[in-house]
Amino acid sequence: MKLTYLSHSCALIQTESHAILIDPFLTGNDLAPISSDDVLCDFIILTHGHEDHVGDTAAIARRTGATIISNFEIASYFERQGFATHGLGHGGGWTFPFGRVKLTIAHHSSSYPDAEGNLRYMGNPAGVILTIDGRNIYHAGDTSVFLDMELIGRMHPLELALLPIGDNFTMGIEEAAEAARLLKPRMIVPVHYNTFDLIKADPKELATMLEGTDTRVVALKPGEALEL
Ligand code: NI
Ligand code: MN
Repeated sequence: MKLTYLSHSCALIQTESHAILIDPFLTGNDLAPISSDDVLCDFIILTHGHEDHVGDTAAIARRTGATIISNFEIASYFERQGFATHGLGHGGGWTFPFGRVKLTIAHHSSSYPDAEGNLRYMGNPAGVILTIDGRNIYHAGDTSVFLDMELIGRMHPLELALLPIGDNFTMGIEEAAEAARLLKPRMIVPVHYNTFDLIKADPKELATMLEGTDTRVVALKPGEALEL
């Protein structure tokens, strides 16, 4: 399978038969390497309801017919608008045609503005574990580091973890290094940084902090891909 980093928290995973898009924030994102009009996918996974994660979900799902996978509240929100959805609860997983998706906890919040700008409750924020072709990929969503990451890594030995490093809204470099020690992934792709001034970060600092461990930091530029 191939994972392409599309900037911010967005990644596209392509298997032999399916394409899975996570947190498609492309419109209004200066780092996005592709227009939302050009993305093809069969499934869209959303970690939480914030605008920099829901992003272009409606437009892409309308054009492609993709099924939206998220927590119960976000799935219901899109289902009421006529989209194909699949809702999950934390700790729960479901086996889709491409592989298994399971939601984990994340320490953050989850809301989406309505037409008046009032924040609508969008359930609890999540991380996601994908198991595809026998390999586990963890997308942490927006979160701080938390001790249960040790449990995530123990139950799902990780090939790859996508971890936020931008600080301010999520963990920064130091917490991401601690997350790496708990999760023990073979590789980390840093996400959620450099999109805005508030979340400037240098992934090389994380790589330096993890020297001598079994975890390799792979800092993908927007549009770059990794074969797994
Ligand atoms: Ni967020
Ligand atoms: Mn975010």
